[in-house]
Amino acid sequence: MEYRKYLKNPVLEDETDQMKGFPIPPIQKPYPEDARLIDLISHDSIKLDDISLMQAINNRESRRKYLEAELTIEELSFLLWATQGVKELARGGLVTKRTVPSGGAMHPYETYLVVNNIEGLAPGLYRYLAVEHKLLVLDTNKTGLSEKLVEVCHGQAFIGKASVVFIWTARPYRLEWRYGEDSLKDILMGVGHICQNLYLACEAISTGTCAIVAYKQDELDKFIGVDGENEITLYLAPVGKI
Ligand SMILES: Cc1cc2nc3c(=O)[nH]c(=O)nc-3n(C[C@H](O)[C@H](O)[C@H](O)COP(=O)(O)O)c2cc1C
Repeated sequence: MEYRKYLKNPVLEDETDQMKGFPIPPIQKPYPEDARLIDLISHDSIKLDDISLMQAINNRESRRKYLEAELTIEELSFLLWATQGVKELARGGLVTKRTVPSGGAMHPYETYLVVNNIEGLAPGLYRYLAVEHKLLVLDTNKTGLSEKLVEVCHGQAFIGKASVVFIWTARPYRLEWRYGEDSLKDILMGVGHICQNLYLACEAISTGTCAIVAYKQDELDKFIGVDGENEITLYLAPVGKI
């Protein structure tokens, strides 16, 4: 099979931009100065279910049936922290140490949220600002976002019943700057770590999720407003109470 070549590490012939002395790209996608931001809650202020790590790992499964119940902002804050939370700015603020691993600590990801039923948040499209631990409001004016998302995901109806859907993109240059053509495996593996943390964190708050790769690429990129070149959707995960 032709595609198997992508499973292998390439032999690198060219110098990377880092080797050439180019500046490191920003740790997070920039946003306008006058953007509307929403404060999140610190992860350690949430009360988790009485569940051990062993139980969380053992109970983890892909959950596709959600109650019509809202998630609190504390719960959403916890899930965002568990998946992309920044613990430390390292190397003079050029890289971040987070709750998940990432090749070279480059963390080339952004997290978008389609909010449907979160206490105190208007339904709409948001982006997580991991460095600030805040939400950036992108669009709370459009209606029917959940229905459109189901369509983009080939009619997987349970996605439309979620309280919130996490959508992860990669900004590939953040990693290419360091690893050049050798970035593919890092990007794809890293987002798996993020989603696994979401699965386990959900188990600790009576909430469920399901990893989703079946979606129409161009339509999902357009749906969240990324160009599909400098920023590309990789993965999504609906979340709801169970
Ligand atoms: C990379 C990846 C892509 C997946 N894509 C989908 C998907 O598009 N739709 C879906 O319903 N489940 C999807 N799943 C969930 C799998 O179907 C599920 O993990 C598998 O059936 C095993 O079940 P479990 O997670 O409950 O152990 C995906 C899982 C992974 C890891």
